[in-house]
Amino acid sequence: MKIMVIQGPNLNMLGIREQHVYGPMKLENIHSEMKKQAEQFNVDIEFFQSNLEGEIVDKIQECLGDADAIIINPAAYTHTSIAIRDAISAVNLPVVEVHISNIYRREEFRHKSLTAPVCAGSIVGFGPFGYHMAMIATMQILNEVKMIKEQQAKAQAAQQA
Ligand code: DQA
Repeated sequence: MKIMVIQGPNLNMLGIREQHVYGPMKLENIHSEMKKQAEQFNVDIEFFQSNLEGEIVDKIQECLGDADAIIINPAAYTHTSIAIRDAISAVNLPVVEVHISNIYRREEFRHKSLTAPVCAGSIVGFGPFGYHMAMIATMQILNEVKMIKEQQAKAQAAQQA
């Protein structure tokens, strides 16, 4: 099992940018915590950050056949990108959206997420801890998918017998 973590524009500036909003933690520290968690869960994990919309679309598409689930913070593209939303829909993988800040307590233009409706769920406003929660949510979804597949395989085998 493999989880792909995709980080949108300006998240490479965490720890420097608007610390009163996003806190002092750097992206590399968030990722090293997630890596530890992935080891505990016995899953592979890969990290990708880009400031470019098309690169994020490409990475989501590449997940098809390469990853079992996606954790994404599309950052500012959350509020603008139909292309990222369509890419999420296209791959039809479980996707968990994360926002470090509570976008609903901020400027009105951040209140709408174009991507959230095509994700399994969203975790918003819990700081970097949101990524930890997203890992737990993703593992829960992957376990459910695995159970359903096993049940289907059993039912099929019983039908053939
Ligand atoms: C963000 C919220 C977005 O509105 C903003 O553009 C970001 C970060 C968050 O994690 O809180 O860059 O996605």
